[in-house]
Amino acid sequence: MLDDLKANNRNWAARKTAADPGFFKRLEGQQAPSYLWIGCSDSRVPANEIVGLDPGELFVHRNVANLAPPQDANYLSVLQFAVDVLKVKHIMVVGHYGCGGVRAAVDGQRRGLVDHWLHPIREVCKDHKHELDTITEDVAWHDRLCELNVIRQVRNVASDVFVQDAWARGQSICVHGWVYSLSNGIVTDLDCSVAGLEDLERLA
Ligand code: CO
Repeated sequence: MLDDLKANNRNWAARKTAADPGFFKRLEGQQAPSYLWIGCSDSRVPANEIVGLDPGELFVHRNVANLAPPQDANYLSVLQFAVDVLKVKHIMVVGHYGCGGVRAAVDGQRRGLVDHWLHPIREVCKDHKHELDTITEDVAWHDRLCELNVIRQVRNVASDVFVQDAWARGQSICVHGWVYSLSNGIVTDLDCSVAGLEDLERLA
């Protein structure tokens, strides 16, 4: 099986070079992506492919259920590098409908460490209990929780000191919340974009 992957890799590199002989040489020098993608680890949500971006164009952080937890050193390191060094213009938190992580957060089963990781989603669920209680259909209920989780993570990113300090310096950064549909491949913008402190207050 791995031999197939290695053969695929050789073919891919050859195709890239054939289409653009300077492609890898250019990238070797530096990366200058304008976007940071914070998405779910789910194998059905391949970041670059969905938005048609090449290597070098998208800085990517993925974890189970696309979380941006303010105490997670991995996420924070990615965020700081993206904001302070790469100076990305846009940060998109991208959830997806049918997210197994979101479902696992609230199904009451015990799985171990991941139950701790998913704790923020149970908080989102609790905070939006009134709205969620009005949705009787199971898939629609979970899909709405996926959306609410994205919006909460947008708030986390926009509330972070790295982002707020960048705004104070006059750096332009907009944080967006998107959700991806596994059933048709389409991304929906949840219209919760935050480009500064006033937007953040409206969102909260
Ligand atoms: Co997921």
